[in-house]
Amino acid sequence: MSPPIAIEPQSAYVPSTFTKSPEVAVKVTALPVNKDVEERPRPSPKGYYDSLELFPRVHEESYAEMKAENYPYLDLLPHSPKGIHPPLKEVPHSDVGLRADPAMPNLLKAPGAVFKEMTPGFGSEVHGIQLSQMTNAQKDELALMVAKRGLLVFRDQDLKDQGPAKMLELGEHFGPLHTHQFGDMVKGYAGLTAVYRDQHKKLADAHVAGNVSSINWHTDMSYEINTVGTTFLMHMTGPPSGGDTIYASMTKAFSKLSPAFQEFLSTLSAVHSGHRQFSKAKTATGLIRETIETIHPVVRTHPVTGEKALWVNPTYTSEIVGLKEEESEAILRMLFLHTQMGQDFHVRVHWEPGTVVVYDNRITQHSALLDFEPGPGIRRHLIRITPQAERPFY
Ligand SMILES: [Fe+2]
Repeated sequence: MSPPIAIEPQSAYVPSTFTKSPEVAVKVTALPVNKDVEERPRPSPKGYYDSLELFPRVHEESYAEMKAENYPYLDLLPHSPKGIHPPLKEVPHSDVGLRADPAMPNLLKAPGAVFKEMTPGFGSEVHGIQLSQMTNAQKDELALMVAKRGLLVFRDQDLKDQGPAKMLELGEHFGPLHTHQFGDMVKGYAGLTAVYRDQHKKLADAHVAGNVSSINWHTDMSYEINTVGTTFLMHMTGPPSGGDTIYASMTKAFSKLSPAFQEFLSTLSAVHSGHRQFSKAKTATGLIRETIETIHPVVRTHPVTGEKALWVNPTYTSEIVGLKEEESEAILRMLFLHTQMGQDFHVRVHWEPGTVVVYDNRITQHSALLDFEPGPGIRRHLIRITPQAERPFY
């Protein structure tokens, strides 16, 4: 097993309360090119959380109900440790997509594999290849393909029945696995995040309580220093209909802006706030780390493709640094509306048994649809594997 992720006291340049230090805004102009990413240990947080007692985050009535119906994924329900734990420390990242064969022969020519575009520029559906059986060369090409297409929807996957160790092993190929500030981790496999909604546990609902719509566009945990990259979301169970996820391509969103506006945005940085997530959800959950706010560039560069992506989202981005309040609000409102209204760069994923969506969190946003009413036997349970990637740079 890989060694645990180094967790140390708060680093000097990531204040627990936001300060407008210019050091925080990272500007890297040169695209890092490293075709020989060495095989290196991929630290997992498992070792740290394994030493702690974890508590179930599913209501006891729900657990009894699932036990009575022999629900096959009881070992993949959410758990959290009590107390506040050390912050994540910035870690270096070299993307495995950099060492992939650009022609992606191991994926595209895999026996039986079928790739079908969902839209011309965003999203592909994949049949005939199992994520659980991929070679390391195929995994590297997967990172490249997801960086190019934004997301891949794999159907009829057996990964959900291969057990948490197999899921963890797959994810660790792409980077050290993230643990959420709310916990909700799989017991014994802290690198797996359980996304779960039933009649008793409605964390997602807390984010949109009081809103007209349940749509909650975001990039996962954009407030972290190392934001997350090639991400796996696996369907365990869901309602008979509803609970789809919608995705937006943020490279396409950026490409549609005028050159002058693109150039202006490329000079800016913005605050991404973990406080916001907690303040909306605090009646539904607890924290396992102190919330942080981090400044990231408004436009980021993908380290593998070199493509630029718009990197602000309405859930976590609170303000643009250096602008007056009205200016910041007006620009963010415009960019959020642009993301929400851009149905020519959106796709919608309907979850089926065996569906695994692999999406690149650096270049996409998404929202679940809370259009179904949970009740006895009606729940939505997914497992997310969320490898950390680089600190965003322009
Ligand atoms: Fe999400």
